[in-house]
Amino acid sequence: MTELVKITNLKNYYPVKGGFFNKKTDDIKAVDDVSLTIEAGQTYGLVGESGSGKTTIGKMLVGLENPTSGQILFDNQDVTTIKQKKAIHYNKDVQMVFQDSQSSLNPRKTIGTIIAEPLQNFGVPAAIGSEGHNQERSFDQEKIEQRVLELLEVVGLPAKTVEQYPFQFSGGQRQRIVVARALATNPRLIVADEPVSALDLSVQAQVLNFMKKIQRDYGISFLFISHDLGVVKYMTDNIAIMHHGRFVEMGTNQDIFDHPQHIYTKRLLSAIPSQKVEDRQSKREERLAVAAEFDRDHDLYYEPDSLRAYDLSPISETHFVSIRKDHN
Ligand SMILES: Nc1ncnc2c1ncn2[C@@H]1O[C@H](COP(=O)(O)OP(=O)(O)OP(=O)(O)O)[C@@H](O)[C@H]1O
Ligand SMILES: [Mg+2]
Repeated sequence: MTELVKITNLKNYYPVKGGFFNKKTDDIKAVDDVSLTIEAGQTYGLVGESGSGKTTIGKMLVGLENPTSGQILFDNQDVTTIKQKKAIHYNKDVQMVFQDSQSSLNPRKTIGTIIAEPLQNFGVPAAIGSEGHNQERSFDQEKIEQRVLELLEVVGLPAKTVEQYPFQFSGGQRQRIVVARALATNPRLIVADEPVSALDLSVQAQVLNFMKKIQRDYGISFLFISHDLGVVKYMTDNIAIMHHGRFVEMGTNQDIFDHPQHIYTKRLLSAIPSQKVEDRQSKREERLAVAAEFDRDHDLYYEPDSLRAYDLSPISETHFVSIRKDHN
């Protein structure tokens, strides 16, 4: 396996200002010392409740925010700052897909124009897929138009889509358009931030399936951000669970879902509603038991009188949990 992304001790603090002189009084520790590695061709899941810092990590990774400190390596190159990213045309390699496709598509442009833009900027690579990220690129207008049609086909939209406008599509279709645009540059990594959270359940499944297919067919790595554990279980190889800017647990999909260790992970898992009516009572009991454990063992998992999680400790080669050091 090759490491595509290596994030080390990443922090992003936002100053809180107040008082008469509007001086800095405190920091919001949106991301507070996290490290993670994304292997080429794999999907890394980032899970946690609202405000835990997931989007902030995504923004630092794609270059929408500068970290307060820490390092981001992409294919062994230092791309920590926005300036470093710009210097190597990093946004050709790394694309972001947001939850709200309505606002990320210009309402006055046709879909054809929207998908053609990255092709005009970076050229048309010989073939779709991350393998081709180093391929020679063509700026020929005919090639651009042909690739727009190919990309629409990949995401399952008809050719006539090129003449239409964003408002003419449903949320699920717009997510397909956004993914087609992201694919146009032959990215090696796509950061997908809650890509299906705004969609109906049945449409969610369709969009997830085609994203999974694209990931497999083109060997693209994903950082998949979601608060929905069901979605994350379906989509990801490795997972980090985030709480208040910290990673509380990290492991393979199996580590997290079959052997959850941290009380917060257990709480998230117990909150997944059961499909079967006959399981509902036991699910409710599980939730109550986990809630009681959360209160009882708080200091085992968080620094006293705070919700700052301890640093991660390994419990296997792949599985890490944040737990008080003296715990046996
Ligand atoms: N520009 C900013 N200025 C100040 N605070 C910010 C800024 N952006 C984010 N924050 C704060 O940082 C924390 C993490 O925010 P972030 O958007 O990363 O969370 P999230 O996990 O993506 O949440 P959600 O699931 O709601 O999208 C929150 O407390 C948020 O209020
Ligand atoms: Mg977010």
